[in-house]
Amino acid sequence: MTPFKIAIAGLGTVGGGVVKALAARGEDLSTRAGRKLEIVGVSARDANKARGFAVTNFTPDPLTLASGDADLVVELIGGDEGMARQLVETALANGKHVVTANKALLARHGKALAELAETKDVALKFEAAVAGGIPIVKTLRESLVAYEVQAVKGILNGTCNYILTEMEATGAGFAEVLKQAQAKGYAEADPALDVGGGDTAHKLALLAALVFGTAPELASMPVEGIEQITAADIHFASEFGFRIKLLGVARRTSQGIEQKVHPAMVRTRSPLANVDGAQNGVLVDAGAAGPFFFSGRGAGEAPTASAVISDIVEAAAGAFRPAFGRPAARLAALGPAPAGAAVSPWYLRFEVLDVPGVLASIAGSLSEAGVSIESMIQRGRAPGEGVAIVMITHDAPQSAVERALKVIAASDKVRARPCMIPMEAA
Ligand SMILES: NC(=O)c1ccc[n+]([C@@H]2O[C@H](COP(=O)([O-])OP(=O)(O)OC[C@H]3O[C@@H](n4cnc5c(N)ncnc54)[C@H](OP(=O)(O)O)[C@@H]3O)[C@@H](O)[C@H]2O)c1
Repeated sequence: MTPFKIAIAGLGTVGGGVVKALAARGEDLSTRAGRKLEIVGVSARDANKARGFAVTNFTPDPLTLASGDADLVVELIGGDEGMARQLVETALANGKHVVTANKALLARHGKALAELAETKDVALKFEAAVAGGIPIVKTLRESLVAYEVQAVKGILNGTCNYILTEMEATGAGFAEVLKQAQAKGYAEADPALDVGGGDTAHKLALLAALVFGTAPELASMPVEGIEQITAADIHFASEFGFRIKLLGVARRTSQGIEQKVHPAMVRTRSPLANVDGAQNGVLVDAGAAGPFFFSGRGAGEAPTASAVISDIVEAAAGAFRPAFGRPAARLAALGPAPAGAAVSPWYLRFEVLDVPGVLASIAGSLSEAGVSIESMIQRGRAPGEGVAIVMITHDAPQSAVERALKVIAASDKVRARPCMIPMEAA
């Protein structure tokens, strides 16, 4: 059989890992693919960079890879516009299979790219775009299809999970732990996309599309990061038997599909609560088939290259399905649940002046909004410094809690913006 020709654009962490793994295990991978896998071209910005592996067939312009004789183009440049988008569109338009790890690109342009791939009868595969080495894309696209999946919840950003884990272990604040994470290479110099929840949102949009048969959709997704989480919140969470995790949650509700990214209180006995450090975890409520939990390394050279290579081998073997599991034309608009409709118990923290009547007035505002309190902790600080009041509510709609907190925050006895964190059932 003729060799299967591969072109790789981007030779950084992931691209370098793919080149090295193909060199090290090419023979077995070719056997699995049924065809010899051959790299016919590579591209990056800097031709002369020392990369720690042999660079052959280098071209300075990635677009030449999309018009050459490659059967498949691997896009590992990154970014939702610019060269990455142009390369993927050109490669697909020229009838080449595409494998990418680019969640930002697919979250924004996934449906159009999937349509283009189908028109040309080529693969568009993205296992590495979500949860690194965990094979969750294939699982949701091909395995958990018999019963209607009700929800998917994930710890999808290793940087956030590392920071929250370290905050819990050391008692240090967010800013201090972020600095340490940057020094150790666990956080980018510009951490905004990670700690602000944007990266988790991109990945969640792809998981939701696979599960619900909808086009990836970001516009209606509320996204909150971990910047406002304090060491005190983490401490109080543990007193109540919970840990704080940044979750991406997508679920069916009677009012539509709920998609959101936010810090959540997760019971310590839940598998998600025990995903530590830079690991990722995904919990799938697969309806009658039951819950399934997946965990492992969500980023880094080897786990991500592992996912990219599984896609390459499948495309080479001719085994590919529509990118999101259904024909792109059948991907419906999301139909989001109304904002604020989510119902759960809530963790609330108030920083207040230690004067008579404050507690009664907070309880009164919550009660007026129809929010009832299940338990409460009050902790004093040094005299004159105020106190923290922490409450756990019974089930309440987000909009009702927000309404009460708006009233409470306006009081001159309240020293800081109140904190509200939903409590996840599992
Ligand atoms: N790193 C991870 O753990 C991980 C995990 C999951 C998904 N991803 C995704 O994988 C993709 C790649 O990430 P990465 O961490 O490997 O990034 P990276 O280390 O920054 O590598 C990016 C590569 O793209 C090249 N590049 C950038 N702009 C280019 C341009 N205009 N033309 C040609 N080449 C260009 C760079 O060239 P130079 O080397 O010459 O600068 C570099 O080789 C991204 O979409 C990312 O979101 C990464």
